Amino acid sequence: MSSDISGQTIIVVGGAGYIGSHVCKALQASGAVPVTFDNLSSGHEHAVKYGPLIKVDLRDKAAILTSCGDYKDASAVVHLASSIEVGLGETDPAGFYNNNVIGAFHLLEAMRETGLNNLIFSSTCATYGDTDQMPLMEDQTQKPFSVYGKTKLAIEHMIQSYHKAYDLKYLTLRYFNAAGADESGEIGEEHDPETHLIPIALAAAAGLRAKMKLFGTDYDTPDGTCIRDYIHVNDIAQAHILGLSKFGQGLKAAEVNIGSGEGISNLEILKLIADVTGSSVPYDAAPRRNGDLTRLYADPGLAKELLGFTAQYSDPKTIIASAWNFHKRVWGL
Ligand code: UFG
Repeated sequence: MSSDISGQTIIVVGGAGYIGSHVCKALQASGAVPVTFDNLSSGHEHAVKYGPLIKVDLRDKAAILTSCGDYKDASAVVHLASSIEVGLGETDPAGFYNNNVIGAFHLLEAMRETGLNNLIFSSTCATYGDTDQMPLMEDQTQKPFSVYGKTKLAIEHMIQSYHKAYDLKYLTLRYFNAAGADESGEIGEEHDPETHLIPIALAAAAGLRAKMKLFGTDYDTPDGTCIRDYIHVNDIAQAHILGLSKFGQGLKAAEVNIGSGEGISNLEILKLIADVTGSSVPYDAAPRRNGDLTRLYADPGLAKELLGFTAQYSDPKTIIASAWNFHKRVWGL
């Protein structure tokens, strides 16, 4: 398909990961060439299907500079690589700051030295922290309480400073809960360990794991469980395509929420999983998980205004059906 970005080379740091592989597929479908930079520490080589793979680790400053130099004619860099497991960040902040913040610094420096000047950065709704103001708007005060959220906010600030001082053009996308899989079933969510609700509940429904734990049933919500905003990974990928085309139209700097705008509770998700799979999800009510917020959902207005973005695939049942399609293949069901 021809598009504004047709023929462009785009560096995708973290292109072997869950969201990165979907971004690469969307780039290829738009006629662009995605070049994946990945150390394969959590991404998968088998998910790099849409362009070349350069094995490089962001913590290696010299190596990332060489790789950026090799692709200095690329039109933009999409940076998705990071440590994401919120619980792990609390026990290994050194690893998180090193991989996320120092890694991003090395990338920004390599971009500066090689003249790569357009960046899309994957941030998160976890940078907002605890607030009763829903839906979340981009100008909401950011007070993250998880180490994960703090590292992402530190990178947001670093990028803003590079914009101001060095004229870096950037688009920071604050994702809500990425979920689902490409309809082909060839790529999807494959974290190890898996900590996310939908893949864990699908495995429990399929009888591949013992009862799952439902963390917290005493929240101040209609059914007592947390509320989240699930956004299909292909909608997230599309937001990148729209964002990349905006660089050619003069985009200089922006922070934008990428969510569906709809909140759904954990218990409602389990019910939908039973509908989709035909098997109920065995679970035990468990205490609240450390660091979980009661409710999080986006105001998607700015994404629409600035990028022309509207979620297409993020009806929760569609998300779950696509994840189930992927996992059935991976699990040989
Ligand atoms: N949950 C369970 N049992 C499980 C796993 C999850 O009850 O086995 C619950 C969680 O407690 C939470 C909800 O399901 O209430 C969603 O949890 P996820 O782990 O799927 O997603 P999070 O909302 O915790 O995390 C997501 C992203 C993070 C990001 C965060 C921002 O995965 O990268 O949103 O809040 F930081």
